[in-house]
Amino acid sequence: MESAIAGVVRCLGASLKNLGLYPTTHPLVRTPVEKCHVELAPFFADRSELALTVSDGTLVLEGVPIFQLTSSLELFMARLGAIGLPAVIFERGVSVEDIELFVRFLHETKEQGLPIPEIKSRLARWGVTHIRVTATEEEEKDDFALAREIYGNALNVVVRALKDVRNGKIPDGAESDRAVREMSGMVSRNRDAMLALTLIKNFDEYTYNHSVNVSVLSLTVAETLGLSETERIGIGVAGLLHDVGKTQLALDLIRKPGTLTVEEFEEIKKHPEEGFAILGKMTHIQESTRAVVREHHMRFDRTGYPRPEPEYRMNPHSHVIAVSDCYDALTTMRSYQKARTPQQALDIMKKLAGKSLDPDLVELMDRSLGVYPVGTMVRLSTMEVGVVTGNPGGGKGESMVAILFDRSGNPLAAPKGVDLKEPDPSSGKPRRMILGTVNPLMHPPVSMSGILQAVSA
Ligand SMILES: [Fe+2]
Ligand SMILES: [Fe+2]
Repeated sequence: MESAIAGVVRCLGASLKNLGLYPTTHPLVRTPVEKCHVELAPFFADRSELALTVSDGTLVLEGVPIFQLTSSLELFMARLGAIGLPAVIFERGVSVEDIELFVRFLHETKEQGLPIPEIKSRLARWGVTHIRVTATEEEEKDDFALAREIYGNALNVVVRALKDVRNGKIPDGAESDRAVREMSGMVSRNRDAMLALTLIKNFDEYTYNHSVNVSVLSLTVAETLGLSETERIGIGVAGLLHDVGKTQLALDLIRKPGTLTVEEFEEIKKHPEEGFAILGKMTHIQESTRAVVREHHMRFDRTGYPRPEPEYRMNPHSHVIAVSDCYDALTTMRSYQKARTPQQALDIMKKLAGKSLDPDLVELMDRSLGVYPVGTMVRLSTMEVGVVTGNPGGGKGESMVAILFDRSGNPLAAPKGVDLKEPDPSSGKPRRMILGTVNPLMHPPVSMSGILQAVSA
């Protein structure tokens, strides 16, 4: 077994090494891949996957350390280490193409220390199936925990950036870029886990949470639009920093409840330009990101601020930030406004479509968040009340629901995740259906993060 294992890894290493010298189609690249595929096959006779890990600088395949190091093997390990890949798992059904693409991915990826979610989403985009990457087992966390960590990190980045600006320092653009890359990777991997976090609203920290939420929502829209990675990152960073110019305003003005005086509103109106100026001093900021920050209140019908000249051409990505900004503001409770449910927010936004908001993007958001967006409180045909925790297939599948209250309205001891596809044994029809939304204000407040933790445990 040991020599067979060494053979698999040697082939991978040889192909990778030769890829540095010859084109992909060259036999010295292709043959080792084919050989690797043949050598892998016997392993899948009694197992469905094979794990290759790097532990303490030693390559380990299925728990067996590979000591017969050759130069190509060393190169292989060095590439895994540089990209930031602690473990690779080959699944039964892996094809020659999968292996070939994976080796090419190792060869062509020049960045170092990429976050795991980013590597996962890149491999998915390359079309690699049956080869999974993962952190080592103890590091492997479930998606919700990972999403929470990524969200928390982005929150810290915003807090730091705004504080820096207040103290007259220029924020580190690389930090924002990194935080957005992580969120983008997580949106591709498990969009519901990331979207659910946008529903955790923190009234005291409104600006910070709002900034991260707008970034996540914009990344979701950008992904649905099929934009390139560079564009998506640019939009995500714009979302994260769209209100950075507000740091130049007096704090009590930002927090002021209710209507503003004309003079106060004139002050508020300066924040997009201020933001544009601040981003201009930062590194790692795309030119379009700056433009989007400047334009995020211009509105689709160009009636906003700063008022564009007739010949001024707006960046279409500004409208993405505008819809996300609007959605997050509507679903957040403020001192002068109650929080709308996701459905109510979308209904309001449909009325604004074609006026202040881009109608295509409102429709896209409506479609991609599903009929019952994550976080919506729903009544089921069993008269139980629950909250939507997921919408598989980008809103096309059946929603996932966690039941919080029984049919008499009594709270359950713990949220109970249910599958709406589960049939009733007597009729064969689904046991539960969503009847409609319920007003969350009719029930005691619930903690979305607590619910998600309970149902994902
Ligand atoms: Fe703004
Ligand atoms: Fe905003």
